[in-house]
Amino acid sequence: MKHLIDIKNLSIEEIDNLINVAQDIMKNKEKYAKKCEGKKLATLFYEPSTRTRLSFEAAMMELGGNVLGFSSANSSSASKGESVADTVRVIGGYADIIAMRHPKEGAPLVAVMKSEVPIINAGDGGHNHPTQTLTDLLTIQCEKHRLSSLTIGICGDLKFGRTVHSLITAMSRYQNIKFVLISPKELKIPDYIKKDILEKNNIDYCETNNLEEYMSELDILYMTRVQKERFFNEDDYIRLKDYYILNKEKLKNAKKDLCIMHPLPRVNEISTDVDDDERACYFKQAKYGKYIRMALILDLLEVK
Ligand code: NCD
Repeated sequence: MKHLIDIKNLSIEEIDNLINVAQDIMKNKEKYAKKCEGKKLATLFYEPSTRTRLSFEAAMMELGGNVLGFSSANSSSASKGESVADTVRVIGGYADIIAMRHPKEGAPLVAVMKSEVPIINAGDGGHNHPTQTLTDLLTIQCEKHRLSSLTIGICGDLKFGRTVHSLITAMSRYQNIKFVLISPKELKIPDYIKKDILEKNNIDYCETNNLEEYMSELDILYMTRVQKERFFNEDDYIRLKDYYILNKEKLKNAKKDLCIMHPLPRVNEISTDVDDDERACYFKQAKYGKYIRMALILDLLEVK
């Protein structure tokens, strides 16, 4: 049985295949409308979500399947003290596949050990978010028509941002990738990502706290919000939350074909005056998320 816990669970070939299927789904929606008839997806969300949960549910519905689940720990038996292991064991009797989001790093791995159905990690604490990364890769492929030879600026909360960790892990496997890591010193990329991913794969990267310093070199600018829920102390959050605000002025030296991405939700880090710039891709990105999740569900359920 296949699961998706970490983006490293997928080879480059498997990722390419998912991207191809997602692109085919975008062109031929009717062909896929009944592929999951009679199947159910359970969404077990112990942490807030808008895009991830609803795009998973929309994905399953567009494949002709059904959905069930909960959208907060409070409305599930987790609030009575039930373990993740027991919950997934039970849900495996009600659904064919589970997408799960949990505030604890590693919770989806615990789920895999007890689950009789495929588990998809829809975000575990400040650790990983592989389906956001698949969304990001589909976005880059559709907008830039390549996944290699790119200079990628990643800005904001690189410490707690799980989408950042999974994106760097994935992109480090492609040729000729360069990263510009833009963050305040308190929110720098964790050492394990530097050592085990960037340095191990000889990836060209630099760190700066200045958003404009390398702007003219970037092919992609991936903005992220400061992850309020992972802070231990409210004062630190308040001090750092508006550290970066991308606006039209800051884009004046940027390439004409820059692709501006953001996993969303946006708080203040991109000014709304950027939204009508043709380089703003973040709302399109959210849309791509549904199609790549359709491709992933088909793959994990081994639907031909
Ligand atoms: C991200 C997440 O949950 O990590 N959101 C998402 O899934 N699109 C990013 C965030 O919450 O900042």
